[in-house]
Amino acid sequence: MAQFTLPKNSVVKSGKSVSAETSGAKKIFNVYRWSPDKGENPSLDRFEVDVDACGPMVLDAILYIKDELDSTLAFRRSCREGICGSCAMNIDGTNTLACTKAIDEIEGEVNIYPLPHQDVVRDLVSDLSEFYDHYASVEPWMQAEEPKDPDARERLQSKEERKELDGLYECILCACCSTSCPSYWWNSDRYLGPAALLQAYRWIADSRDEATDARLEQLDDSFKTYRCHTILNCTNTCPKSLNPGEAIAKIKRKIADR
Ligand code: SF4
Ligand code: F3S
Ligand code: FES
Repeated sequence: MAQFTLPKNSVVKSGKSVSAETSGAKKIFNVYRWSPDKGENPSLDRFEVDVDACGPMVLDAILYIKDELDSTLAFRRSCREGICGSCAMNIDGTNTLACTKAIDEIEGEVNIYPLPHQDVVRDLVSDLSEFYDHYASVEPWMQAEEPKDPDARERLQSKEERKELDGLYECILCACCSTSCPSYWWNSDRYLGPAALLQAYRWIADSRDEATDARLEQLDDSFKTYRCHTILNCTNTCPKSLNPGEAIAKIKRKIADR
């Protein structure tokens, strides 16, 4: 299980308690609340949710809280299908996607916090600016000269070359991995973190990309890449079952071979 620490601003006190006034089965959801502009400490609000009246996923319960119990709760979500990555948060001690985490999988009360060690914008909404800056820094697009064959409309790959991208292209940039990594917690000003490094390797592994050498040169840095100490929280927590730890190891191997 991914290691968990409270978000950066924490001294969390007990907050209000709100119950659903319906006859269905109830489950308690403890939800982190904080509005920085109010000047108060964060709190953990206790909501009694009618799980018979909402869908099966934790995001359904959060939407129930928003619709029925407290309309001021702030969180991000979009696709509800595990594709957009926006509903990433810490549920029951693990970073994951609220829309793909089943309520039934959690015994007892459900504790929900924002992603660890990120500045909190409000409630469950984290400031991921630095995370996106790291992503942009690896120049996550194909870099290649014009096609050698002027008649070629596409840059073709063999099946084997295409297979090299499996386990890399599926990343939805949810930030669950980077925000579970202790090295990223302490060095996120200079360490790129597992998500950005997995994305960097996605282009290094792409047979059509011609900037491999420049990419490896940029990553050959004691902080950007080598702050990974193979802790593997990233791989254990990824809700898409990807393996950023392995991608980082492959980058290090390619740098060593260079
Ligand atoms: Fe999310 Fe997994 Fe991509 Fe990390 S590697 S950003 S956990 S999908
Ligand atoms: Fe962190 Fe994953 Fe490396 S948890 S230290 S990025 S293997
Ligand atoms: Fe899109 Fe959960 S709402 S991944």
